[in-house]
Amino acid sequence: MSNKRIDPVTGTETTGHQWDGIEELNNPLPRWWLWTFYATILFGVIYVILFPAWPMVTSATGGLLGWSTRGDVAAEIQAVDDAQAPMRNRLVETDLAALGDHPEVQDFARDAGAAVFRTNCSQCHGAGAAGGIGYPNLLDDAWLWGGDIDTIATTIRHGIRNEDDPDARWSQMPAFGEILSEEEIATLTAHVMSLPDGTDPLAGPGGELFDMNCTSCHGMDGKGDQSLGAPNLTDAIWLYGGSEDQIAHSISRGPFGVMPAWGKFLSEAELKAVAAYVHGLGGGTEEDPATN
Ligand code: HEC
Ligand code: HEC
Repeated sequence: MSNKRIDPVTGTETTGHQWDGIEELNNPLPRWWLWTFYATILFGVIYVILFPAWPMVTSATGGLLGWSTRGDVAAEIQAVDDAQAPMRNRLVETDLAALGDHPEVQDFARDAGAAVFRTNCSQCHGAGAAGGIGYPNLLDDAWLWGGDIDTIATTIRHGIRNEDDPDARWSQMPAFGEILSEEEIATLTAHVMSLPDGTDPLAGPGGELFDMNCTSCHGMDGKGDQSLGAPNLTDAIWLYGGSEDQIAHSISRGPFGVMPAWGKFLSEAELKAVAAYVHGLGGGTEEDPATN
């Protein structure tokens, strides 16, 4: 049983609890404390009504204000997008070949293009665009299909040997393993491997085979043909590897590099930006009307 009484010293009622004769006074809570406590409860109730709060099965209650962190990020992205809109429009309107005359548009294009490249291109061409086996290095000035900015843009827009775009770049080296004997392939392999050392592409037995089977695409001089995407075989740059096995493999199987048509996935501004970026990487050449 509790044993409440008035404490004679302070005049305050006790709670009736006592330990070893020490009693607890029933002082009221301080006003400031109590009001702060009520205020936090009120705050909590209002917060739950206005903002996302209670976890439900698939999401949380939304709150009357409709606020969300995702919405915040979307608004920030929209703001950056809006701020860039004038530059983007200028880029879309500017002829790529004339980009050099508009340095601020060019700078914008290369920056934006670098971001497009990181997102869409680096998985094949490498983060630094140096490529790998089957994926061309975009930093050097060895171009399969041509390195002036309009040609690069066309290659990116329509892609290479894909079935999705009727204007995709197209050519197909035959699989010579089905046409020539093993011995002839071996002769050609040795011959092709010696081309970067300056061997005359038409000299010797290898040259004869080369003349009959290869020059229609790779040229009498072995330097390739950009209208066919046929690589230069004299520059010691090997898209599919330069070892004996790799070159023999290229000749007998006929490589068939495929790139998607990016015109389907990128906006016009993104496409022009990434073309400007690739062109600006170091290997870009000046406009050559003959290659377009
Ligand atoms: C799925 C892999 C893949 C992705 C992703 C890819 N490419 Fe390619 N790209 C290739 C291949 C393979 C080739 C070489 C095709 C050939 O052998 O002719 C190529 C060739 C190119 C060429 C021609 C190079 C030359 O020497 O003429 C350019 C330019 C190019 N890519 C740019 C891009 C850009 C820009 C992007 C991103 C928007 C991109 N690529 C994304 C696979 C890819
Ligand atoms: C119909 C045109 C065509 C003919 C004919 C042709 N090629 Fe090719 N060759 C190509 C194309 C196009 C490529 C690049 C394919 C790609 O990028 O996927 C290529 C690639 C190669 C490669 C790989 C080069 C590298 O950088 O890795 C070698 C080696 C090669 N050809 C050798 C030959 C030899 C040898 C012959 C004759 C026996 C021959 N080609 C005939 C079109 C041709």
